Amino acid sequence: VTQYDIQTILDEVKEMLKPTYHELRKVLNLYDELKCILEDTLSKSIPYDFKVELEGSVAKGTAIRGEMDLDIFVLIRYENLSKEWIIEKFVKPVSETLSYLREGYRVELRYASHPYVKVYAGNVEADIVPAYWAKSIDDIRTPVDRTPFHTEFVKKHLTNEQCDEVRLLKKFFKGVGVYGAEIRVEGFSGYLTELLIIKYGSFEKFLKSVITWKEPQIISLRELNSYESSVLLKTFKGSPLILPDPVDNRRNAAAAVSRRSVALAMLAAHEFLKKPSLNFFFPLRRTLDIRELQLKLKSTERNTILILYKVAEETSPDIIWGELKSIGKRIANILRVNDFDVLDLRFWSDDRHYAAIYVEIHGEKLSAFKPVKGPTRIGVGLLNFFEKHCVKDPITPWVDWEGVPRALSYRKVRDPMDLLKDNKDLLNANHIKLSCITTNLLEKEIYDLRLNRDFLTWLSESVIKSLPWREEPM
Ligand code: CTP
Ligand code: MG
Repeated sequence: VTQYDIQTILDEVKEMLKPTYHELRKVLNLYDELKCILEDTLSKSIPYDFKVELEGSVAKGTAIRGEMDLDIFVLIRYENLSKEWIIEKFVKPVSETLSYLREGYRVELRYASHPYVKVYAGNVEADIVPAYWAKSIDDIRTPVDRTPFHTEFVKKHLTNEQCDEVRLLKKFFKGVGVYGAEIRVEGFSGYLTELLIIKYGSFEKFLKSVITWKEPQIISLRELNSYESSVLLKTFKGSPLILPDPVDNRRNAAAAVSRRSVALAMLAAHEFLKKPSLNFFFPLRRTLDIRELQLKLKSTERNTILILYKVAEETSPDIIWGELKSIGKRIANILRVNDFDVLDLRFWSDDRHYAAIYVEIHGEKLSAFKPVKGPTRIGVGLLNFFEKHCVKDPITPWVDWEGVPRALSYRKVRDPMDLLKDNKDLLNANHIKLSCITTNLLEKEIYDLRLNRDFLTWLSESVIKSLPWREEPM
């Protein structure tokens, strides 16, 4: 294998990621067309000043070839944009006009923090988002109102060459599986990626910095004194990564980033710098079939529980993933409280019909009796310990060779499956319903999914723990 040097690879990938002239023209034409339609339709339903504006990566020059989606904002000079108002005066007229004005436009109503319209035109998607047209950042009402300020900031601070660096970093984050602020990923948003390039200057400089990060990592676009740093640590306590939003210092632009995402980014950066390759941008994602996976679990003596769900119709992805992750937290909790060592917890959904949780526990069953240790220092606690354990334990407590009181108690649950099955209410949520819980991948309930490529890839990565950019054999 030829070992490319970093620059050759980066130049090659940059070329691959640059949008073509034709696709750029196509999306901008679509934007012009939608802008006219919106101005025309909304001037009839909205009695306030408003303007249609292009936001997002197409506006900022950081969109990736083949992934050019429009983020169109309608900024309205009206403070009280309630959900009902938006539906009545915005969503309804816009979707009506679009869906019969033109065939070929598919229109969907979506909810983020508030309702917006998603338009599918050929292979381009456009989000049409209503927001309050704030005069200054201090005047915003909801998080979406911040977007025009973000666009403006990035346009002002990012050079043309750096747009290429942003595309590299976005594609790298995508390849590593940490791109996007949505609950599914809990990773780096487009805006955060841009801020990182503004901060570090280039993709390679970012990589060299991320491998030195230390939690909680503060990154600031301007010099901070120690007082300012300590205020940030207090304000954003619990965040592994803190990057004060340059347009709004009250907010952490990295608030969505989980510890897992930072760890994966750091690890991938380290391995890329050691051995650069296209795999980081275009990952291999190994997929085994369900039989091989079951064999692998057996041969490595693993203890894995797979939980399958059916998703209620019309549930939005953020809801599905939010419920999956909160169920995951509850599962990890109850298992830990009952002495099980939870090694891994992963989530999957096709965002429509199915969802799944992968739970891996160390070791098989627990022993029937639980060893209990009393206080290690002599004191009245020793007597209390004996008193307590004499009553209900299977054998009398004793003092061990180091003078520490010990006992064996009955254990409530030995099998993690029993624990989960006895607590089925913990496993359910409003929009996803439990359909099967099993340790056997060949169970017939999994049948529907065993041909689903994305599910199998996820399951393979969960079982083998392979990292998407590595090509080592299993
Ligand atoms: N946004 C939003 N609601 C939407 C879509 C976008 O509020 N339905 C806002 C986001 O908060 C973000 C901006 O619009 O500030 C652009 O969002 P996004 O498309 O996620 O990021 P991009 O910078 O466009 O990056 P990408 O290339 O991944 O699209
Ligand atoms: Mg976008």
